[in-house]
Amino acid sequence: MTRHFLRDDDITPAEQAEILDLAERLKADRWSETPLAGPQTVAVIFDKSSTRTRVSFAVGIADLGGSPLIISTASSQLGGKETPSDTARVLERMVSAIVWRTYAQSGLDEMAAGTTVPVINALSDDFHPCQLLADLLTIREHKGELAGLTVAFLGDGASNMAQSYVLAGATAGMHVRVASPEEFSPAASVVADADRIAAGTGGSVTLFTDPAEAAAGADVIVTDTWVSMGKEDEKAHRVATFGAYKVDAELMSLAKPDAVFLHCLPADRGYEVAADVIDGPQSIIWDEAENRLHAQKALLVWLLARKDA
Ligand code: CP
Ligand code: NVA
Repeated sequence: MTRHFLRDDDITPAEQAEILDLAERLKADRWSETPLAGPQTVAVIFDKSSTRTRVSFAVGIADLGGSPLIISTASSQLGGKETPSDTARVLERMVSAIVWRTYAQSGLDEMAAGTTVPVINALSDDFHPCQLLADLLTIREHKGELAGLTVAFLGDGASNMAQSYVLAGATAGMHVRVASPEEFSPAASVVADADRIAAGTGGSVTLFTDPAEAAAGADVIVTDTWVSMGKEDEKAHRVATFGAYKVDAELMSLAKPDAVFLHCLPADRGYEVAADVIDGPQSIIWDEAENRLHAQKALLVWLLARKDA
């Protein structure tokens, strides 16, 4: 049956591990899988800006033998004159998978419900699950096993990145800490879903308001922009509210001495992270960015193998 990847918990713990193993193999042997040879086309649609996601999907689809079709929503009928489900019904007649960066998660649900080809969330307001596959791959490369590690996300806990860490981290058996002002906590329903997953994987999710408490003894420190795409109007309030959550050398020093720092990028140096942290020796952001390519190729190979004939 066709599977979609709209949220981090659309895959089981065993499936997540399988995709990460495949990503590791594809990173070592880049052109070893060509499920899109023919070539088949994959549509990659953007309602919001992108550098990494656009390039990594385009290059990854080409690596797999396929042809990427990059669509900007502004120059398509989607979002204006046409619904996600009608768009999906048309695209499925011509493409092998649909990748979509959008605003509301409900649009992705509608797109997936209306089509027989896999739909992949390339970032929504609620989740960024492709980024999490890359982050987990990167953490695994630097730390070995994921299960049992403590990861602290500091900043906008209601953001797509924080909520994806909650779900994907719990799936991987990690102890996920999120430190944010109370008004920017992850959604209670997301935490409840993650708690259920963590009960089976040995992981956990804990919410904090004090960034120092969350960072203490952590193996991994993560942050993201305080002003996600679509939240630009709230910039002044956000910058005033998140000041204490900036990851600087002092906050990093509370984590384990061998802790690593991740940021999905783009970054606002001097806001959510100090330049000497993001550009310092504990930062693994460039491996993280590269791993978008390998993780998404693995995801595509895995989803295409499960697609309805
Ligand atoms: N991290 C990430 O998704 O980057 P882009 O917005 O450049 O795609
Ligand atoms: N949280 C950020 C991630 C960018 C890749 C945003 O949604 O803008």
